[in-house]
Amino acid sequence: MTAVATTTLRVFDDTDPGTPVLETSDGERIAAELAKAGVHFERWDADAQLPAGADQDAVIAAYRSSIDRLMETGGYQSVDVIRLERGTPNTEPMRKKFLDEHRHSEDEVRFFVEGRGAFYLHVGDKVYQTICVKGDLIGVPAGTKHWFDMGADPEFTAIRLFINPDGWVANFTGDAIAAGFPKLD
Ligand SMILES: [Fe+2]
Repeated sequence: MTAVATTTLRVFDDTDPGTPVLETSDGERIAAELAKAGVHFERWDADAQLPAGADQDAVIAAYRSSIDRLMETGGYQSVDVIRLERGTPNTEPMRKKFLDEHRHSEDEVRFFVEGRGAFYLHVGDKVYQTICVKGDLIGVPAGTKHWFDMGADPEFTAIRLFINPDGWVANFTGDAIAAGFPKLD
C-alpha cells in the first residue's frame, strides 16, 4: 500500500466510520476545521537534515529555534523526542498503547519532523482523523478524547512539548470507538 505522505484531514460522524463527511489536504482548511474542534494545528518548516541514528539531543539541536518559540508562546516547560525508524522491531505493543480512546490531563503537543502518524480526535459527535507528516504541529488540549495510530510499520520523529510530563498519562475512556475507524495504513 502506498503511504499517504501528505497531511490529510478526514472528518467522520462518530457513528459512521465508513464515509468521511469531509476530506481535505489543504493546510489552512485543516487548521480552520480543527480550530472549530479546539485543536491547534500549524504547518512549520521542518527542513533540518537529520542523520540516520540522530539521537534526541541532535534532533532538539536541529530544531532549537522552533522549539524555543513554541515553548515561549505555549508555556511549555520540557521537551523530548520520539523517533522510530522504519524496520524497528516489536513496535506493535507501542502502537497498541495509544490505539484506544483516551484523554490526558496535559496537552499533547507534537511537531512532526520526519515520517507520519495519525491522530483521531473525538470532539462532540465528530471524529477528526488527522494524518500528520513532516512539518505538522498539532496541539491536542488536555481533556480531549483521542487516539493515535503510528501504523503497522511506523516511521516518524516527533518533538514532544510538555507543561508537566507527569500529566501525560493515558486515561482510557473504555469506549471501543477506535476499533471501528480506519487505521493509518
Ligand atoms: Fe494521547
